[in-house]
Order: sequence, then structure tokens, then C-alpha cells
Amino acid sequence: MKVHAIILGAAGYGGGELLRLLIGHPNVASILAVSKSHAGQKVWKAHPNLRGFLDDAYYAEADWSALPEDGAIAVFSAQPHFELANQLKGLESQWASAGIADRVTLIDLSGDFRLSDGQLFESAYGKAHPCADRLGTFVYGLSEWKASALRETTRIANPGCFATAVQLALLPLQGLDLGFIAVCGITGSSGSGALPSETTHHPTRAHDFRAYKALEHQHQAEMEGLIHSLGITAQLSFVPHSAPLVRGIFATVQFCLPEGLDESGLRQRFQAAYRNAPFIRQVEGSPRTASVVGTNFCEIGIKGNGRSAVILVALDNLIKGMAGQAVQNMNLSLGLSEKAGLWTPGLFPA
Ligand SMILES: NC(=O)c1ccc[n+]([C@@H]2O[C@H](COP(=O)([O-])OP(=O)(O)OC[C@H]3O[C@@H](n4cnc5c(N)ncnc54)[C@H](OP(=O)(O)O)[C@@H]3O)[C@@H](O)[C@H]2O)c1
Repeated sequence: MKVHAIILGAAGYGGGELLRLLIGHPNVASILAVSKSHAGQKVWKAHPNLRGFLDDAYYAEADWSALPEDGAIAVFSAQPHFELANQLKGLESQWASAGIADRVTLIDLSGDFRLSDGQLFESAYGKAHPCADRLGTFVYGLSEWKASALRETTRIANPGCFATAVQLALLPLQGLDLGFIAVCGITGSSGSGALPSETTHHPTRAHDFRAYKALEHQHQAEMEGLIHSLGITAQLSFVPHSAPLVRGIFATVQFCLPEGLDESGLRQRFQAAYRNAPFIRQVEGSPRTASVVGTNFCEIGIKGNGRSAVILVALDNLIKGMAGQAVQNMNLSLGLSEKAGLWTPGLFPA
């Protein structure tokens, strides 16, 4: 199958990673990079690593009626929260006018459609949802959890990067009564996007380490949604930290093992849950950000000692936590090989 890919917000970090992955994707026949801030400039001005691979200029907007008449159309929105929610209905009517509505798969990388309840959204994101009647109409795109629903949908809400790491630690724990789950999450600076702010600018964080948004990070609602759906009984406490890395998420997820479950039983649960998950690597000891950076892999380490258990997770926030998982979800939705465009080892040392 041929795929035409359109990226909205293509000058940001997520947009750049989407472009890089889609350039190497065997089914992608054309790529249109849309950027309001960089319209008319060469794509490599924002993403110098793409020079020679994509020498087009950015478009200010997509001309939907100019797309080729055959093939699937994958639209990725890599814009800040609230942008796609404001644009969705306008985009859908443009697709209908151009006669392409039934060929479009839309994948949103922001938090706009991850939660299905308007009040929950408002408490997580601080403002009412601009298009609340469409909440609940997107499939939540944690690929390893929702693969069958993703094969049947054309609207995908890609998960948050922290949420991806923590949920991949929790997915095999279905039905357990855990009481309390303590989560320490660590992110690199690219998690805050391309525009520096006072707290994300390199000089202020390159040699610093701190917690932020303790117990009030917006991804907690996504994690609680999975706990609830899987019948895990637990209160989850999430504290994110900002680490002197550029890329990478590392999550430490701790809980008490319920009666009757030991380390070997825990490992068996992970092996069963991820038997057919090509991007999950179970490792001995600690996972490392350095062995997954630049890839769509997620490494998971498991340790139990008496009643204490810890699940350790490492992934690249811009790939498995964002653009790579978005391509994995496109592959699932379009019936392509799940690994297409993504099956590559990273750099080591990173
Ligand atoms: N960074 C991560 O690790 C990560 C992981 C998972 C999900 N996400 C989510 O994915 C989305 C994109 O993230 P990113 O890291 O790629 O962000 P980014 O580097 O800040 O860039 C995103 C794009 O959004 C547009 N943009 C930036 N600031 C804007 C503003 N104030 N108003 C309107 N448009 C603005 C720009 O689009 P134009 O090119 O059109 O000018 C920019 O290219 C966000 O919703 C983010 O929360 C990020």
C-alpha cells in the first residue's frame, strides 16, 4: 500500500522525528511538511539532519485537493495541546470537500484527544476542551495495549511520553490489587519541545536535577485511565524529574507484591504480555536510555525481593514516546507491518 504523509507542526522536534522516520518508511510515497512558523523555508533549516533526504520547503498549509488520487493519507498533528482540537472540524470539512475523507487516518501527538471525559481533561490541562463533543472518538494509541482497536480506526490519540513508559510497566499487572504504586519519572530536555523557556533552556538545566509538577503532571490521568481499565486496584503517585539528558525517559515504578506473586511470577506476566510485542525488550538489571535512544524500542527490567517489586523502563521520548509510536500506530491502522520504517538499532554510545 502507498501512503501519503502530511505533518502539521513539522518544524518542531516531534515533526522532525516523524519526517526522519517517514523518509525511510517503505510504504511512504510522498511527504508534505506543513509549518506556520517556517513556511517557505527549506525543511533542513529546522532539521539539518534531513538535508539531502528532504530538500523541499515547508508549506504554510496543505492543499488537500492536490494529493495523488490513490493511496492512503496519514495526517500527523505534532502541534501543542489545544491546536488540533481547535482545527479538527475545519480539517474534516476540508477533507470532505476534497473527496479524501475516507482515505485519511489522523494521528494526534498532543494531549487533545487522549482523555475521554471533559472534566478530567479540564483538570489535567487547565482549560475546557474546545471540541468536547469529539472526546472519546479517538482510539488511545498505546500500541501494545490497543493494537486490535488501532487496526479498526482512523482517529488515533498518541499517548504522552511519560504515560507510555509508565503504562508499559503496568500493562502486565492486569487485575492485581497493588494498593499503592510509586512512580519516579525522569525526562530529557527535548521533552519540552524546540522552543526554550526559563526552566527548559539548556544553561539552566544542563547541570541540574530537579522534580517538577509533583503529583500534578497531566499524564497521571492517562496512567490512571489504564489502571482503571485493567482492573488494577491502586493509588498511583507520580513525580516527574528533569534530568541533564537531551533524549530519554526513565521510569522507576515501585509497589508491594500481592500475596502469592513472586519475582518469577511477575516475570512470567511480562513475558506473556509482551510475547508478540516487537519493540519491547526485557533486560536483566537496569534498562539504559543509551541503548534505546534513536529507536522505537522500550527496555524493561524487573526485580522482586520479598514483597517489594520494581519495574524499570527506558525509552526515547521523541520516538517510542512520540513519533515512533505514531508511525507504529499508522502501520497498525493501515494494516502494514508493525515494524515498517522502525526496525533499526540505535547508536551506542549515544
Ligand atoms: N517532545 C516530546 O518528547 C513529546 C512527547 C510526546 C508528545 N509530545 C507532544 O507532541 C506535540 C509536539 O511536541 P514537540 O516537542 O514537537 O513540540 P515543539 O518542538 O514545540 O513544536 C511543535 C510545533 O508546534 C507549533 N507551535 C509551537 N509553539 C506554538 C504556539 N505557541 N502556538 C501555535 N503553534 C505552536 C510549531 O508549529 P509550526 O511548525 O507550524 O510553526 C512547532 O513546530 C505537543 O503537543 C507535545 O506535548 C511531545
